[in-house]
Amino acid sequence: MSTIIDLQTKIRKIQTQLATDIDNLASQQELTISYLGKKGLFNQVAQMLRELPNEEKKTAGQLLNQLKEELSAKIATVTISESDNQSWIDLSAPGIQPKVGHMHPISQAMRDITHIFEQIGFTRVRYPEVDWDWYVFESLNMPPDHPARDEWETFFVDAPDTTDKNVAYDASEPRGRHPSLIGGKMVMTTHTSNGQVREMERLNSTPPIRMINIGRCYRRQQDATHTQMFHQFEGLVVDEGINIQHLKGTLDYFAEQFYGPGTKSRIRPFHFQFTEPSFEVDFSCHICGGTGLIDGNRCKFCKSGWHEVGGAGMVHPNVLKAGGIDPEIYTGFAFGWGVERTYTLKEGLNIDDIRLFYSGDLRFLEQF
Ligand code: PHE
Repeated sequence: MSTIIDLQTKIRKIQTQLATDIDNLASQQELTISYLGKKGLFNQVAQMLRELPNEEKKTAGQLLNQLKEELSAKIATVTISESDNQSWIDLSAPGIQPKVGHMHPISQAMRDITHIFEQIGFTRVRYPEVDWDWYVFESLNMPPDHPARDEWETFFVDAPDTTDKNVAYDASEPRGRHPSLIGGKMVMTTHTSNGQVREMERLNSTPPIRMINIGRCYRRQQDATHTQMFHQFEGLVVDEGINIQHLKGTLDYFAEQFYGPGTKSRIRPFHFQFTEPSFEVDFSCHICGGTGLIDGNRCKFCKSGWHEVGGAGMVHPNVLKAGGIDPEIYTGFAFGWGVERTYTLKEGLNIDDIRLFYSGDLRFLEQF
């Protein structure tokens, strides 16, 4: 009776033999016959399977499968065919263009968004994607157990509470100056708004602030228009005398730059805990020019002339206070929305399943 060791030895012999044959310029056809043909080396070694003890058959089968794949793959790369016995090479013949990859479409969008905002003095920053509840919710005017938190389908992280209960919290100071006070729960960031108070702290609570924060966000939802991981970008401007017109001007600027001339923005009243007043932001549809109609028929792409993209508003005084900024002196605006959605609208691609972005399917990605 043979053993699996015998089989392995035979397999190794075949592998060495193939390498030698390829070095000696055997043709693809010859190799196919002598290795993979009916009476070829593969079938010969495969016969051994019958002689092996039952408990070794499974592993042996796997080894044989691997061998077969390896032989086919190696033989397929042999380009010198039996008909190709010319001994010269045409050096002037065009070469084979190697495949060149490119940036993922979402990375391209992030690069474009960053560039657009840098033109008007924003600084791109990134903040942690796993962050304290304090930055994601509490400092944004959402105390523990506040119902507004339900809006965000949050993943919580099992991390020990490191809050130092012995340190008295002086409410006039931003908590970020006392890291031992920022304990409690940790979350996977549900929005890039966690960057707001972090940015105020980074700049020592001293405006002007012009931040563009682009990062990954996580929510417990998955369907054709939501992925559990997605990207958002967040703008924050704080200075003396900042008002809604500055917000609207910035949105119009972005709309024109990203979607092309003539694109307009629209803000509608809404509610967020961390902005007051708050708005939802729409951009005019570039297919029907914001009219909702194409040749008298309803525009199929937008239905109403507008696409809703995200949220915005004037920074709530409590948020400024959490970042150590005096709301009596300074005001600010913030906006934030999803990169994926913003991008698909731009291209007029009408991608009906955004999960495709993360499927790793080259047939999809190569189109961008
Ligand atoms: N963070 C909000 C969201 O994820 C969007 C937003 C950002 C709203 C900034 C207002 C200001 O939905």
